[in-house]
Amino acid sequence: MSSATPVTPNVADSLESLAAILKRVVELVHGPRDDIMDIMTGFCQIAVIRLFIKWKVFEKIPAAGIISYKELAAAVGADVSLITRLCWLLVATGVLRQEGPDRVAHTKSSEAYTSVAPLRAQLQMGFDEYMPPILAMPRYFDAYGLKEPTGKLHSVKAFAEGEPELSVTDLMNRHPERMATMLLALSAMEKMYPHSGLYDFSWVAARAGESPGDRPLIVDVGGGNGHTLRAICNDTPGLPMSRCVLEDLPEVIEVAKTTADKEVLSARLVGMDFFKEQPVKGALIYHTRWCLHDYGDDECVVILKHLADAMAPDSKVLVGEIVMSNPPARSAAMMDMLLGTIGGKERTIEGFHDIAGRAGLKITAVSRGPRDMVIMECEKV
Ligand SMILES: C[S@@+](CC[C@H](N)C(=O)[O-])C[C@H]1O[C@@H](n2cnc3c(N)ncnc32)[C@H](O)[C@@H]1O
Repeated sequence: MSSATPVTPNVADSLESLAAILKRVVELVHGPRDDIMDIMTGFCQIAVIRLFIKWKVFEKIPAAGIISYKELAAAVGADVSLITRLCWLLVATGVLRQEGPDRVAHTKSSEAYTSVAPLRAQLQMGFDEYMPPILAMPRYFDAYGLKEPTGKLHSVKAFAEGEPELSVTDLMNRHPERMATMLLALSAMEKMYPHSGLYDFSWVAARAGESPGDRPLIVDVGGGNGHTLRAICNDTPGLPMSRCVLEDLPEVIEVAKTTADKEVLSARLVGMDFFKEQPVKGALIYHTRWCLHDYGDDECVVILKHLADAMAPDSKVLVGEIVMSNPPARSAAMMDMLLGTIGGKERTIEGFHDIAGRAGLKITAVSRGPRDMVIMECEKV
């Protein structure tokens, strides 16, 4: 029955397992003290990289050459001693390379921070958006008790910014420049978790010829700027974009109308709120990717119920999310921790069965991709 094609986990998963084994070997040889030193080195490293992005230090190191600490300090208007000490942290951790006693050069790692690239945005987002709520966690749990942070209001993030009564969306809407960095960072995530190959949409294309010819085939709910719809249509011969609908908040859709390419603009673009009634009824597929993990269980049930209410008897809901193993892999556990700061969470498959069931849906097929990325196919109960 299922059209879902399992995908073999890729090299990223194998590398993560190998890194875990090597770490265990180091622990056995050296004991846990190294771990503590590594953790503390990690947070010093992210702080220095963030400062260097802000001060444009990486751009001042020649692309294919070398610069003295004295010249580098002069180029950014800083004390030589300050720049030298901060560079040493990055040299010691392999991000920069030192030659002789006082000259420094790029490595492959540091080159990624020289331009407004998605990877740089990802690090910037990690530091600017998630470090403050993580630092506020002791105070947050003192104030709210030792409860799972959930719900749109009173998130750790809003608490950390002194605005606990604001939703994260309202908070971020006040900071367009931070939003822009987040969007760029999301495109880096897109590369790490490509949509292509995760699910075989050919059966949807096969139904494009059926009447009524104007039935929406795929509605991408919370689809952002349409990159996922584009990937699906490009990968699936015979699946026309004109039979797809791109839905997101009205302000996001307004931006998409002026920035999206011709292909995405041939879809129907609909501004909506997924916490309210679904405006497009009876589509073949309601697709939602990386929307549920931004919310707690009760909110997800509301989102899914609105989709269930709009479904025709043969409609399916496709949910694309990371599905954690138990215990979770390192990267999934890290994402779960970060999502907790905005009231969201990563879920195990049991967690998804629970919210789907509460919304009147059942998960009928699961298609697994690399890094725990999964597409769950759901039908109405
Ligand atoms: C993490 S992004 C995922 C975007 C896209 N689906 C993807 O896979 O890259 C979450 C999306 O949900 C949208 N969103 C958030 N709240 C929404 C709401 N209440 N109604 C509709 N869309 C919403 C955001 O604007 C954003 O585009």
